[in-house]
Amino acid sequence: MHSSFSGDSDEPMENMIKASVEAGLDAICFTEHEDRILPYNSKRNGDFDFRCFWLDVPPYRDKVFELREKYKDRIKVGFGIEIGMDPDGAEHNKALAGEYPFDFIIGSNHYVDGYDVYYRSYWEQGPAERQMGRYFERTLENIMAFQEFDVLGHIDFAARYIPEGNEGLYTYERYHDIIDKILRFLIENGKGLEVNTKALRVGMKEPHPSRDILKRYRELGGKIVTVGSDAHSVKEAGTFIRDAFSILKECGFDEYMVFTGRKPETHRIEL
Ligand SMILES: [Fe+2]
Repeated sequence: MHSSFSGDSDEPMENMIKASVEAGLDAICFTEHEDRILPYNSKRNGDFDFRCFWLDVPPYRDKVFELREKYKDRIKVGFGIEIGMDPDGAEHNKALAGEYPFDFIIGSNHYVDGYDVYYRSYWEQGPAERQMGRYFERTLENIMAFQEFDVLGHIDFAARYIPEGNEGLYTYERYHDIIDKILRFLIENGKGLEVNTKALRVGMKEPHPSRDILKRYRELGGKIVTVGSDAHSVKEAGTFIRDAFSILKECGFDEYMVFTGRKPETHRIEL
């Protein structure tokens, strides 16, 4: 989850921790955003300054360390980061990953070919089917350039932003070649998948990754999955986590992982 140390959240970290305790969670991990390479459409979106996604780690680290101590009897609080990958940012990202004692690193793909896929300008660069394919291709380029992460974040996240909606346009089948390449690379390199419940929260039927991708990862031998709400405010803390566990069960998983000091610890999924 995120707090006000991320450019897209205003929620004080302590509020997120209290809300998580109230939601009945016994472990959370902050994964604040770091996206170093600025997209071109930073110039096309008015005053929005993408440098808000440059994370100032020392005050963030100090706050997590202070609050994890304060709440240690109630909840385990992890010190993580969501690194926006980019082949041009790989050296920066490698150095950052090694510089601090992170518990958990999510490697994510938010920008493709210089565009933030969140904005329409990305989808104006070509037909949606092609732009979706580019998203996966870029993901593979990213993970080949940078492996200092534990799980790949929201693997099919771009599908959420297809302007005409993703129904019928985005399916695992349509992109299975490139998705399988990504999944095989992850498995060969001991990396996992983040199951992110944000899509469920906004009314989509599938989490990220979709059930088809989760089943395929399992079928290929993948075992490392983590579950997160991607919450950016107190009302989102812990939402749809139980649904994510049911979906994982449905896709053949009996276990999920919690990372501490970049090492996975296995937990049984109990519904
Ligand atoms: Fe993300």
